[in-house]
Amino acid sequence: MPIQPTKNIWRNGELIPWEKANIHVMSHVIHYGSSVFEGIRCYTQPGGAGIFRLSEHMKRLVDSARIYRMPLPYTLDQLNAAVVEVVEANGIAPCYIRPIAFRGYGEIGVNPLKSPIDVYIANFPWGKYVAGNDGADVCISSWNRLAPNTMPSMAKAGANYMNSQLIHMEALTNGYAEGIALDKNGYLSEGSGENLFVVRSGVIYTAPLANSVLSGITRDSILVLARQLGIPVVEQPLPREILYVCDEAFFTGTAAEVTHLRSVDRILVGDGTMGPVTKALHDAYFNILNGLDEDRFHWLTPVTVREAVTV
Ligand SMILES: Cc1ncc(COP(=O)(O)O)c(C=O)c1O
Repeated sequence: MPIQPTKNIWRNGELIPWEKANIHVMSHVIHYGSSVFEGIRCYTQPGGAGIFRLSEHMKRLVDSARIYRMPLPYTLDQLNAAVVEVVEANGIAPCYIRPIAFRGYGEIGVNPLKSPIDVYIANFPWGKYVAGNDGADVCISSWNRLAPNTMPSMAKAGANYMNSQLIHMEALTNGYAEGIALDKNGYLSEGSGENLFVVRSGVIYTAPLANSVLSGITRDSILVLARQLGIPVVEQPLPREILYVCDEAFFTGTAAEVTHLRSVDRILVGDGTMGPVTKALHDAYFNILNGLDEDRFHWLTPVTVREAVTV
């Protein structure tokens, strides 16, 4: 999807014009993938706009940086305030927010420790990520997700997305909307940019963090909603074939939101439509985001914007 530029980008504590947010080709991140980032959505509600689970996202950014020994020169509160500042300065909602911290221009060589840490926050309009409201036709990827002790899955690092790109490109090339990767032991892991849920006999299953999945904020939100709706939830390693015999399956993610799977490897999931458990969770999720239900978990940080388009 082409990027729709906005006016301002937050860089190291100040707002700069979008077109001035450039880096040198010899920056460490370009050569060695040394970045950590976030993806956050801001939604509109009747009479306003709110950023979804801002603090949880920025905490994950801080954690990702910590895993990579990248001390961020800002506190969590300062980072949260910076996101609000750039969203309000650009004045557009709904939007997607992309904070990123990386090793900049300093030294050449693998050692990142002598290169400066730069932090940028951009935001821009961005619509539906996984194509089609009728559900996604997906495949199991021939690529595995990152093995433990290779790249840490709990860090949302730019370099992880080389693996995601292989999974996603293979799926697109073969006519699927997305690919699901297995972990190194052959258990279900996640999509290239989504967590995976399966529903069977009224129970919701998802892979635990030890199966090389990102600790998704949407995943967590769905677990909270499921428990509140009284739907049993089990986090356990899952065999690939459960996808062929489950009643329902769906992806979660900031970009993908809640997207049901229509088929896996051309085998229909249930009858291919969004099943009742997925629908209950989907509606509970969107009702909060769109302001139709009370924000009972305090998931939305209000922002003042000029152009709010009601969804
Ligand atoms: C690999 C991967 N898994 C899962 C997710 C879902 O995470 P979240 O719900 O925090 O967006 C994402 C998206 O950020 C992702 O890139």
